[in-house]
Amino acid sequence: MNKAISGFSKLSKEEKISWIAKEYFSNPDEAIAILKNYWNSDAKLQKLHDDFIENTITNFYLPLGIAPNFLINGKFYTVPMAIEESSVVAAAAKAAKFWSERGGFKATVLNTEKIGQVHFIYTGETSKLERFFEEKKNKFFEETESITKNMQKRGGGILDIILKDKTDLLPNYFQLHASFETKDSMGANFINSCLEQFAKTLQKEAQSFELFSSEEKNIQVVMSILSNYVPNCIVRAEVSCKVEELNENKNIDPQNFAEKFVRAVQIAEVEPYRAVTHNKGIMNGIDAVVLATGNDFRAVEAGIHAYASKSGRYQSLSHAKIENGMFHFWMEIPLALGTVGGLTSLHPLVKLALEMLEKPSAQELMQIVAVAGLAQNFAALRSLTTTGIQEGHMKMHLGNIINQLEATDEERVLIVDYFQHNPVSHAAVVEYFSDLRKVKS
Ligand code: MEV
Repeated sequence: MNKAISGFSKLSKEEKISWIAKEYFSNPDEAIAILKNYWNSDAKLQKLHDDFIENTITNFYLPLGIAPNFLINGKFYTVPMAIEESSVVAAAAKAAKFWSERGGFKATVLNTEKIGQVHFIYTGETSKLERFFEEKKNKFFEETESITKNMQKRGGGILDIILKDKTDLLPNYFQLHASFETKDSMGANFINSCLEQFAKTLQKEAQSFELFSSEEKNIQVVMSILSNYVPNCIVRAEVSCKVEELNENKNIDPQNFAEKFVRAVQIAEVEPYRAVTHNKGIMNGIDAVVLATGNDFRAVEAGIHAYASKSGRYQSLSHAKIENGMFHFWMEIPLALGTVGGLTSLHPLVKLALEMLEKPSAQELMQIVAVAGLAQNFAALRSLTTTGIQEGHMKMHLGNIINQLEATDEERVLIVDYFQHNPVSHAAVVEYFSDLRKVKS
């Protein structure tokens, strides 16, 4: 059957839902009921969410959890986390508590520079283009003044623009490579607006530059866009304590634990297959806070993974060592975040999440997010190098299996009780549940 449709975006929400239900669902009425069940009863709030994107048919929920007891630079935070994966919030809260009793996390913003580029093709003598750029550089600043005025008042703006010759990579390929300070905003709109003006200025000024031949005057702008790679927008998060203080579990010797932990990090430093999973665990913490605070987690993901590959090999983002009887665990990551603009003033839950964090600046949010990543990594490595990950994970997953089985409250209590002392697996839970029902009937 041909399911192509033209003019879909012009249909009303009801019409879009009817179309999708008729075309794709075996039980259209039930599907429509499910979709509508997720609509918010407050029509104004629903409209707000409808308007975030195009072709909205309903809302897609993610749980918003909170992890208390994060002591960062001497201040306690309760961290909001939007994530679907069981055990992530529990692990964050546990790691936060653990480190709050050992001096807490330290976090430092090392720099805050963002990057944007105008990619263009110039077919001519490079020396002439260099001369052109030197003579016209001020124009790029002047002609973006209306865009940069407000940002400058807030202490930000365009930091520098340089001409880059990339012809060794691609014939006739050059860039205007610009750096920006965007203060508390992530800055995507600001940067892209500046870049699009740079592109116009570039082409206009080239047309009247006397030294250019008529061919050289025709600079072809390919695109103007910010980069989500921000290796000069870095935050460092770290923890340290005496090795003997890693003594939470009486059955585990702190020295052995510390050594095994450091070895696990070293493996992720040298082995890309492990590094990807290791960093995925870090992103469990990072993405959850980035999402809850209305930031762009795809941008953060792309930038962080590029940074993890900066040596030419994909590596662990975090590092650990034992030195003079002290255990040290730390991470430096690029993070371009905002606490003003974008979704931050639009989404009611994002506003609450930021209020819960006591309205942080972008730099403070960078610190919180990095710490959430490090805490998550600590929790994962602690489980992996001691009990294994499945014990805790399956305990948390038990609740999901019970929900799937639609167990009654009474059955739930019996199942949870039984699996306190028995290994959890999907099959074992289903079997125990069936036995319970058999006994009952
Ligand atoms: C699971 O979401 C994350 C872990 O795999 C991370 C890790 O292996 O370090 C547990």
